[in-house]
Amino acid sequence: MNLLSLEQAQKSYGEKVLLKQANFYLNEGEKVGIIGINGTGKTTLLRILAGTEVPDEGSRTVANHVVLHFLEQNPQMPADMSVLEYVLQGEKEEDRWILEPDAKTLLMTFELNDFNQPCGQLSGGQKKRAALAKTLLRPADILILDEPTNHLDTKMADWLEDYLRRYRGAMIMVTHDRYFLDQVTNRITELDHASYIHTRQIIRAICKKRQNESKMKILQQQNGRICYELSWNG
Ligand SMILES: Nc1ncnc2c1ncn2[C@@H]1O[C@H](COP(=O)(O)OP(=O)(O)O)[C@@H](O)[C@H]1O
Ligand SMILES: [Mg+2]
Repeated sequence: MNLLSLEQAQKSYGEKVLLKQANFYLNEGEKVGIIGINGTGKTTLLRILAGTEVPDEGSRTVANHVVLHFLEQNPQMPADMSVLEYVLQGEKEEDRWILEPDAKTLLMTFELNDFNQPCGQLSGGQKKRAALAKTLLRPADILILDEPTNHLDTKMADWLEDYLRRYRGAMIMVTHDRYFLDQVTNRITELDHASYIHTRQIIRAICKKRQNESKMKILQQQNGRICYELSWNG
């Protein structure tokens, strides 16, 4: 079943064209990694898919009753709000007492042990980890994660890897961590052709790409800058 789709999307900032007639489809059970060099528009694509940014043209469709949680690359939070309050922000008053122990456990997992610390005192890395705790607090049908392992130490990254491998919903993730990408995703989309990264997975991708050259050409024509999509399952 299709959960989220983006069709014929265009997005530019000034002269810079990031998406041109881009199509993206997310189905149930898919865990998609998006790769590409810095500045190609990965964050912009995730924001459009999450609905926090609108494309200049094209349409985004989300299936009914789908719960989507989004981790921004650089999350913003009110400076005077406590970390715990931030994680619980938006939750109904009657749900808080049930959620609070889970929120605290998640914060401790990410080594944010002072629950009353104002967000304004947090470093960039601590903010990202607080936002990750908020993103994971409740079950979601779709997780959209922009560079989730930035600012995680090995233990936290292992924890997240285990969590995401068990997670039964769909996911779209941008990360530069090739190992993590290989462990938790089952599909890779490259945004921009220029960025071949020579790891085992990507070499497999290039081999597949060569086998499917004609299919790829059609995909390229259809998708503009989202040049090709490859399944690791085949
Ligand atoms: N709100 C914005 N206003 C102007 N330019 C932007 C904005 N957001 C992104 N850009 C530009 O678009 C390009 C792609 O940005 P981004 O989506 O963050 O790419 P990536 O995540 O792949 O590094 C960058 O050159 C960036 O400067
Ligand atoms: Mg980015």
